[in-house]
Amino acid sequence: MKNYLEKVQNHMMALIKELGDDHILRLFKSIESGKMVRSRLLKLIAENETSDLISLSSIIELIHLASLLHDDVIDNSDTRRGKPSINATYGSKVSIMLGDIFYSKAFSELGKFDYEIVSRVAGSVTKLSLGEIVDVRLSEHFNHDENIYLNMIYNKTASLIETASAVGAILSNKDVETYSKYGYHLGMAFQIVDDILDIVASSEELGKPAMSDFVEGKTTIPYIKLWHWLDNNGKRYLESLHKKHLTPDDYNWLLKNLEESGGIRQAKDLAKFHSKSAINLVKDSPELIEIAEKLLSRGF
Ligand code: IPE
Ligand code: MG
Ligand code: MG
Ligand code: MG
Repeated sequence: MKNYLEKVQNHMMALIKELGDDHILRLFKSIESGKMVRSRLLKLIAENETSDLISLSSIIELIHLASLLHDDVIDNSDTRRGKPSINATYGSKVSIMLGDIFYSKAFSELGKFDYEIVSRVAGSVTKLSLGEIVDVRLSEHFNHDENIYLNMIYNKTASLIETASAVGAILSNKDVETYSKYGYHLGMAFQIVDDILDIVASSEELGKPAMSDFVEGKTTIPYIKLWHWLDNNGKRYLESLHKKHLTPDDYNWLLKNLEESGGIRQAKDLAKFHSKSAINLVKDSPELIEIAEKLLSRGF
């Protein structure tokens, strides 16, 4: 797998080199590579390492990278993958424009593929962008509607993972529906875990202050569960902290109540449910099972 991921990294680099701009290439090289979950899925599902597979992996990784460059501007995040984010170092304008370059280069490459692949990948980028807009819109007020939250995380995170899995199945003539569902459940678990870690992982581990989602106005699933558990006074108090700078007392109140209400436990259970549902779909692939398991143990 390591070898495959290196090939994808090299191909991404080659695509960026084609732009013929040294400054852009340096910026690209300065970005820490991530876990490359989407490429891992593509490879494990498609199995045969063809040039099409490497190309599609690179396209999806570039899209993912672009979405993170924009996301860090949207979320005011100063760190990404343990390093200062592009927006923190070079400013928001650079982060947005670089994101646009990665998106458009990915789309130029995508044009070489069959319509089914093009429409799935492009469709998930539309969903991702819609998800990001809804995430921001929801953060204006305290959202306590779980279904709206679930639909939003499906769009912003699960849809591209679902597509990576589906495309892997298309390339290898496997059952698209099964792998698409696998990717869906994995993606849902992935975002729920990310949202839990924002609360329970230490700020050193996250590379950003804990509970930064809530300070940004994002009432992720543990907060939604907590809101429903609280009495009316508690609800009003929780709402009063929304989007505010948290004092150590506020922070402790939140943490204590998120634990006591079972909000964190219920969020973990939901992540486990999605991880198990993913595993049930790929009983014959130990590697795909391992990805779904490892995702859950990431910190808790
Ligand atoms: C998802 O949400 C990011 C994208 C789908 C682009 P988050 O805003 O929670 O992601 P992190 O926590 O910054 O990685
Ligand atoms: Mg973010
Ligand atoms: Mg975000
Ligand atoms: Mg997050």
